[in-house]
Amino acid sequence: MTQIDKSKPVLVTGATGYVAAWLVKSLLEEGMTVHAAVRNPDNKKKVAHLDEIAAKTEGTIKYFKSDLLKQGSYGEAMKDCELIYHTASPFITDVKDPQKDLIDPAVNGTQNVLETANQTPSVKRVVVTSSCASIYTDAIECESAPNGVLTEDIWNTTASLEYQPYSYSKTMAERKAWEMNESQSQWDLVTINPCLVLGPALNAQAVTSESYNILKQLGDGTMKAGVPKMGIGLVDVRDVAEAHFKAGFTPEAHGRYITAAHNTDLLELGTSLLPKFGDKYPLPKKALPKWLLMIVGPMANKLFTRKFIRNNVNVEWKADNSKIVNELGINFKPLKETMEDSFQVLVDEKILQPK
Ligand SMILES: NC(=O)c1ccc[n+]([C@@H]2O[C@H](COP(=O)([O-])OP(=O)(O)OC[C@H]3O[C@@H](n4cnc5c(N)ncnc54)[C@H](OP(=O)(O)O)[C@@H]3O)[C@@H](O)[C@H]2O)c1
Repeated sequence: MTQIDKSKPVLVTGATGYVAAWLVKSLLEEGMTVHAAVRNPDNKKKVAHLDEIAAKTEGTIKYFKSDLLKQGSYGEAMKDCELIYHTASPFITDVKDPQKDLIDPAVNGTQNVLETANQTPSVKRVVVTSSCASIYTDAIECESAPNGVLTEDIWNTTASLEYQPYSYSKTMAERKAWEMNESQSQWDLVTINPCLVLGPALNAQAVTSESYNILKQLGDGTMKAGVPKMGIGLVDVRDVAEAHFKAGFTPEAHGRYITAAHNTDLLELGTSLLPKFGDKYPLPKKALPKWLLMIVGPMANKLFTRKFIRNNVNVEWKADNSKIVNELGINFKPLKETMEDSFQVLVDEKILQPK
């Protein structure tokens, strides 16, 4: 049972991120002081949206220059904080060197932040943004899960440096966090494990998250001929922020929380946009046949290997979200609302052009 004093500052690592921005907004609306640890506080394009929110709320935001790869660089930002949100981690899939670009910042960065927590006596709770990627790599793994459903008891054992290195980075980083949590008794650990996050971006012009690439490709004609019917989970970014908020301030919160609203697939994400946007944007209307993907997929995208296609296309994804619903009381948004609100931002910001 950990009670957090809301008059103390709260640290958010990676505060510029797509997911973190909504969390920072909730904290500021609550009137709290946010210590925003970011790589470049002087980059106005990346922090302007946070300044704007702070100006409209009772809360205060203070920036600290921090890098996951620089040891000790979170010390100043963590001073006097009881609650730490560690969201920073690269979410990119097109990488040249997976060790350097993904694993090192994810794993060494988590170690770096938690070592600083060990040296900061005020810290009582750490909430790490993990992922469903630390539970599974391919949708086919649902079939071998107990009752055919992913739960918090399952760990990813199939991702590697060579196969789906982003999933490997999240698995190794979360393992590191639990290992470090068990070797001390000062702070407790809660992890939020979201599936694919979509929903409106607060900083659409500067988003780096892979989430937005997927959304853009649904609307820019890349998937006009059809889309792989790939089993995935979907959750709204606003619900993910609420999950983080509640994980921080619910004294009884504990362990891992699968944060997934809908067991769905890429085709349903695309077709859910048709009624509102189908006339103006080249959205996918049908599924691409698996046999065709097996031939052209590996040529189109280096991550779209035959193994990946075999294990994900036309395979159902199923996860059990009952822990977060029952313990943190999250009431997830409908899929259509998430998809339409996300897409509307791309339209409003002229990131997508009508056909
Ligand atoms: N989006 C999803 O579908 C999804 C699903 C499950 C889990 N997650 C997790 O959610 C978290 C946030 O992801 P996101 O989708 O919001 O992506 P994002 O917008 O790209 O955010 C990633 C954040 O990590 C920071 N970062 C990356 N490398 C860093 C480094 N070396 N030092 C310091 N900061 C660094 C980035 O800082 P800069 O602004 O300086 O680049 C950015 O703030 C990640 O942990 C991700 O794994 C995301």
